[in-house]
Amino acid sequence: MKGVTLPTETVFVMEMSPIKFGLGATDEIGHDARRLGVGKVLIVTDRNIAELGLPDKVRALLAEEGIKSEIYDGVEVEPTDRSMEDAAAYARTKDFDGLVAVGGGSALDTCKAVNLLTCYPAPLLDYINKPVGKGAPVPGPLKPLIAVPTTAGTGSETTAVAVTHVVEQNVKAGVSHRLLRPALGVVDPLNTLTAPPEVTAAAGADILTHAIESYTPRPYNARAKHPPPDRPAYIGANPASDIWCEKAIEYVGRYLRRAVLNGMDLEARVHLALAANYAGIGFGNAGVHVPHAVAYPIAGLVRDYVPAGYRTRHPLVPHGMSVILTAPAAFRFTYATAPERHLRAAELLGVPVAELTETERREALPRALVSLMREVGIPSGLGAIGYSEADVPALIEGTMKQPRLLAGAPRAVGALELQGILRDAMRYW
Ligand SMILES: [Fe+2]
Repeated sequence: MKGVTLPTETVFVMEMSPIKFGLGATDEIGHDARRLGVGKVLIVTDRNIAELGLPDKVRALLAEEGIKSEIYDGVEVEPTDRSMEDAAAYARTKDFDGLVAVGGGSALDTCKAVNLLTCYPAPLLDYINKPVGKGAPVPGPLKPLIAVPTTAGTGSETTAVAVTHVVEQNVKAGVSHRLLRPALGVVDPLNTLTAPPEVTAAAGADILTHAIESYTPRPYNARAKHPPPDRPAYIGANPASDIWCEKAIEYVGRYLRRAVLNGMDLEARVHLALAANYAGIGFGNAGVHVPHAVAYPIAGLVRDYVPAGYRTRHPLVPHGMSVILTAPAAFRFTYATAPERHLRAAELLGVPVAELTETERREALPRALVSLMREVGIPSGLGAIGYSEADVPALIEGTMKQPRLLAGAPRAVGALELQGILRDAMRYW
């Protein structure tokens, strides 16, 4: 018998991939692949990671367990839909019953797309969220995918999303469905030691933005009630995701500067790897909102910004940079919806909030973010990566194509609000 019908949601769900964590966890990958019933593996990675040798090591570890594998190293950094389709076209010529993704978010997300497009062939755009794509659900179970991240950032090893740049519409968009979640995430901090300082900083900025965004969205019980099949993966802030987010914020605040200063600081690398995974679990359920929605056009409309530390000659805005650049402005905008959460986030970043005046409390989180950004070498605002006031309308237009993310914001966000946030984010110092 069903109880009283309530107008708002009363149920939240926590889903995550099983995670194997620790120094040397990668060495057990043959055992794990076998346990998952895999005999022939496609390893998906990019050329830079391949040159560093980890995919070859994974291949050898799989071979020790009698598992055959082939390496595809054509993943693009900040992958386009075309590059994902190319990877899937390659994969269709191969015989495999499981996948291993080795790399940053680009490799992990491309691998998720390859899994989807080879199990259920269709144009990628069919699966991409509306309004950019058709938003078709993943039709059924996928092959086992083991995700081995080499950056502490995206948390993609535990999330149900794959993000891509849709070339024809010049916009970033995602496929999101619970069946995309990897069968296992192997989070081995040793694999992050090779990340250069700039990559470490941008990836760390992604962790922090995931954690604070999924700590501050519209709460699950302030949203419309959904029947189980229609309940979105991103359900809003809830008591379980809060725990993961808080720990992730604390670790980034304590360890990101150290890992950027000294990539061999193992204690810092371990805690950032934990933080990335914790934030992935947090946002993979609660969902992100304004900074991630605005980040899609910020990355998509880049003209000539070529970041240091990335082995690319092509203009691109690293994902973590694209999200943190509007974060201080966005959390200034959302402060009034939940002052205690914004203050708690600032406190976890080391701000002594009890000593602050009311005016200072409003600014505590934006200031803490700006000071961290400065210290780890993130640019001073959107102006520093080539945007100006003249770009604001196009950035707003691109952001409005992310209604799924904007719906997660704790207060209504339209063109006028976005204009305020974007102007505020042009230059912080
Ligand atoms: Fe992100």
